Amino acid sequence: MFAIVESQPLVPNLYRMVVEAPPVAAQVKPGQFVIVQAVEFGERIPLSVADWDAEAGTLTLIFMEVGKTTSALAAKKRGDALPTVVGPLGNPTVIEPFGSVVCVAGCYGIGSILPVARALKAAGNRVTVAIEGRSAYLLYGREALRGHCDTLIEITRDGSRGFKGHIGRLPEILREKGVTADRFIVNGCTFLMRRASQVFEPAGVPVIVSLNPIMIDGTGMCGVCRLTYDGKMKFACVDGPDFDGRLVDWEEFLKRRKQYVDEELIPVHHTGHTRCY
Ligand SMILES: Cc1cc2nc3c(=O)[nH]c(=O)nc-3n(C[C@H](O)[C@H](O)[C@H](O)COP(=O)(O)OP(=O)(O)OC[C@H]3O[C@@H](n4cnc5c(N)ncnc54)[C@H](O)[C@@H]3O)c2cc1C
Ligand code: FES
Repeated sequence: MFAIVESQPLVPNLYRMVVEAPPVAAQVKPGQFVIVQAVEFGERIPLSVADWDAEAGTLTLIFMEVGKTTSALAAKKRGDALPTVVGPLGNPTVIEPFGSVVCVAGCYGIGSILPVARALKAAGNRVTVAIEGRSAYLLYGREALRGHCDTLIEITRDGSRGFKGHIGRLPEILREKGVTADRFIVNGCTFLMRRASQVFEPAGVPVIVSLNPIMIDGTGMCGVCRLTYDGKMKFACVDGPDFDGRLVDWEEFLKRRKQYVDEELIPVHHTGHTRCY
C-alpha cells in the first residue's frame, strides 16, 4: 500500500495528493506519469507526476474530479492509502537548451508543467509560462511557477485576472511582450492541447503536447492508447506521452477518448456525482 501523506482540494474540482512511493520518486523525471488505483480491484488511471521529493520518497499528484475513479481519489484523506502506484511511466519531456520556451497550461496541467518549467530553466532556457482558466479562482500554483520562469502570463475567460480571453489570444500577448518561441510545451485538457496546436502552428516550431488518451496498462501491451501521429500508429504510453501536436490526428484522438462515455456515465447516475469536464 502507498500511504497518502497529504490530500486536499486546490480549487473547485481539482485536488492535490502527496503519496509515498519511494522507488518512483527516486527515478521520475519531468513529463512522466504513474498509474494509480484508488481502491483494490478498481480501475487503474494514469496521472502525471506534478512534483516529487526523492529524499522523502513522495510524489505529488494533481487531479481533476471527472468520474468514478477520480471521485474515489478525491474522497481519500491523509492517512489513507492507495493500493497501486506504478511508475515512472512514459518518456520524460525532452529538456535541452532550446533558447526561448513557452509553456502553456490549464486545469491539471498547471500542476504538471511545474517540473517541466523548472528543468527548462535549469537547462538555461528563457521560460515563459502561460496559465489559463475560466476565472481567477481556478488558477493555482502561481507562486511556485513564478519561481521557475522568466515571465508568468495569466489568461482568464472572464477577465478576472491577467488577460481576458482564451488561449487563442496568446500569440498576440507574446508579441506584445516581445517573447518569441523556439518551442511550445502544452499540458492540460485535450481541448487546450488541440487548440494550442492549431494556434501556434504558424510559428513553425514544435508544439509539444502531453497526450491523455484512455490507458489501461501504460506499458504498450493493451493498445488502448493508440493514436495516429504523422500518419503512423503510435502508443501514447510508450512512444509518448509527449508528441508534436501539429502531427496528431486530433479527430481520431478525440473519438477514441470518448468511446466509453456511456459506460462511464453509469456510476455517475448511480451515485448522483456531478460530472464536470
Ligand atoms: C499520461 C496521462 C496523464 C494524465 N495526467 C492527469 C493528471 O495529472 N491529472 C488529471 O486530472 N488527469 C490526468 N489524466 C487523465 C485521467 O487519467 C482521467 O481523467 C481519468 O482516468 C478519469 O477517470 P475517472 O474514472 O475519474 O473518469 P471516467 O468517468 O472513467 O472518465 C472521464 C473521462 O476521462 C477519460 N479517461 C477515462 N479513463 C481513462 C484512463 N484509464 N486513462 C486516461 N483517460 C481516461 C475519458 O476521456 C473519459 O471520458 C491523464 C491521462 C493520461 C493518459
Ligand atoms: S495503455 Fe496499453 S498500450 Fe498504452
